[in-house]
Amino acid sequence: MAKIELKQVRKSFQQFEVIHGIDLTIEDGAFTVFVGPSGCGKSTLLRMMAGLEEVTAGEVHIDGQRCDHLLPSARGMAMVFQSYALYPHMTVEENLKFGLENARTPKPEIHARVAKAADILQISHLMKRRPNQLSGGQSQRVAIGRAIVKEPKAFLFDEPLSNLDAELRVKMRGELVALHKRLKSTMIYVTHDQVEAMTMADKIVVLRDGIVEQVGTPVELYARPVNQFVAGFLGAPQMNMLGGTVLASGETSLAIAVDDGRANLRLSARNASLPVGADCVVGIRPEHLTVSADGSLAAKVETMEVLGSETIVHARLGNGLPITVSVRGISGLQPDANIRLALEDAFVHVFDDNGKTLQPTRTWTEDYVQHG
Ligand SMILES: Nc1ncnc2c1ncn2[C@@H]1O[C@H](COP(=O)(O)OP(=O)(O)OP(=O)(O)O)[C@@H](O)[C@H]1O
Ligand SMILES: [Mg+2]
Repeated sequence: MAKIELKQVRKSFQQFEVIHGIDLTIEDGAFTVFVGPSGCGKSTLLRMMAGLEEVTAGEVHIDGQRCDHLLPSARGMAMVFQSYALYPHMTVEENLKFGLENARTPKPEIHARVAKAADILQISHLMKRRPNQLSGGQSQRVAIGRAIVKEPKAFLFDEPLSNLDAELRVKMRGELVALHKRLKSTMIYVTHDQVEAMTMADKIVVLRDGIVEQVGTPVELYARPVNQFVAGFLGAPQMNMLGGTVLASGETSLAIAVDDGRANLRLSARNASLPVGADCVVGIRPEHLTVSADGSLAAKVETMEVLGSETIVHARLGNGLPITVSVRGISGLQPDANIRLALEDAFVHVFDDNGKTLQPTRTWTEDYVQHG
């Protein structure tokens, strides 16, 4: 169990700074997911916590104690990588024991910890095999087992499921969440898969270009992203982003023209007002658009993806820009159909021309979370 704090952490490789002063607190016992595009610094951040990479500036604290000068072995963290990094010439059992033997742990203790980890991960029947006799999922379990036997203060996972096929990923995801429930350890999990982030995390940290864009629960980030980047990153299919111009901005209402003036949206006020004529972006998730005769947006259907439980409708607005609509169940719409789309104020996100969210003045949970 451990609380991990980063204080103004920076990292440069040669003259290039890739982490630009991050402040972050990872709560004790939480399952925290780092997401962000390739190259944003997820692995570097994890490696700096583990001690595999030095911090260029700033401090890393574990349970209130500064530890950025400590060797990895003194930090009590266990890291699991995408490449399982098992020793090929050793059996599963030897792989699990190796770290403990190196640390001169007493034999009965090693035996007990290895047996317990093997039991948790259901790999007891594989103990005499070598890594080349294991499937991807089994190898990944052994790699996680090697972390468990260390009884670390925190587990750091760097895209551990990327090499697995889709079905096995979903299964292993569930197993990791169950493992977290059981061990109650602090876990940090790096991925660029937004579905993994949404489904596994207590807290998500969204990173971009070496800075933290937003930290929050999956629902907070989905419902109230602080900027257009976070809004676009979470959710599949992605949030629609419509360029708009402010027509009127009052104490209680906001009017925005979209689709190059073909539609006027009347919204409730946001916490910061934009001057009339200002450019903005209106964000609306595909599941929050409704096909409705009196909808304010006109669009023409192009293609449909019938998934069964939902239908993804790809359409175009009058200005030719694409708009995606998710319809529950199997939609009876046909390609080339002219439709109108309604959007409800509570689900509309407005971003200024810097991409910053103009937060609604309402309390969001009442609007966004379905009850019953
Ligand atoms: N050893 C290194 N030397 C120079 N630059 C590096 C080194 N390691 C990482 N970088 C750079 O630091 C930045 C962050 O890299 P990092 O590996 O942390 O990204 P990431 O978010 O884990 O990406 P991915 O999703 O692709 O794994 C990148 O621009 C990368 O090129
Ligand atoms: Mg990485």
